[in-house]
Amino acid sequence: MALRLGDVAPNFKAQTTAGEIDFYDYLGNSWGILFSHPADFTPVCTTELGKTALLKEEFAKRNVKVLAVSIDPLDRHKGWVNDINETQNVQVNFPLIADEDRNVATLYDMIHPNASATATVRSLFVIGPDKLVKLMIIYPASTGRNFNEILRVVDSLQLTANHSVATPADWKHGEDVIVVPAISTEDAIKKFPKGVKVVKPYLRYTPQPNL
Ligand code: BEZ
Repeated sequence: MALRLGDVAPNFKAQTTAGEIDFYDYLGNSWGILFSHPADFTPVCTTELGKTALLKEEFAKRNVKVLAVSIDPLDRHKGWVNDINETQNVQVNFPLIADEDRNVATLYDMIHPNASATATVRSLFVIGPDKLVKLMIIYPASTGRNFNEILRVVDSLQLTANHSVATPADWKHGEDVIVVPAISTEDAIKKFPKGVKVVKPYLRYTPQPNL
């Protein structure tokens, strides 16, 4: 059955470019991003994996470990990683799963048969330290993902987890955030010493608490 937000992210063991990995052991207490690609030696994927490698410091700052999935075998992965390093001017610095038996693709419902009978689509899961699925995005093979948006949603998810705030449309780091409806205005005033602006009883802003 397809995964949904709030579900437990299934654990698995897989062969990767960094050796055999147990997903939960790999994540430890970190946040995780598991993301799939249609195939090795494809142009959009090459740019996506290069971009992910470039953002290593940004993921590390957020305590996020990334793990890529592609259904090709390990020897192809290794050749492709060389190409990514060469063409994207990076060193790929995260593991790439060789999901030849489609175990991970099946667990995470990454094959959408009406898009392609065999290749995985561009699925991306953000998994919290509690191993629950916090976010899923699914793109078609032909559209590369926006990795600035991925960092932005991680920031939003972590603000919600750590500070009980939500983020408004088009929110960017540093802008005001929204007090979640579960907190009364009276409690919000105590909880957010930088101030609470009440626009409507259900629409209350406060400066980003972790700055
Ligand atoms: C790719 O790079 O993965 C790709 C690009 C266009 C269509 C399908 C796949």
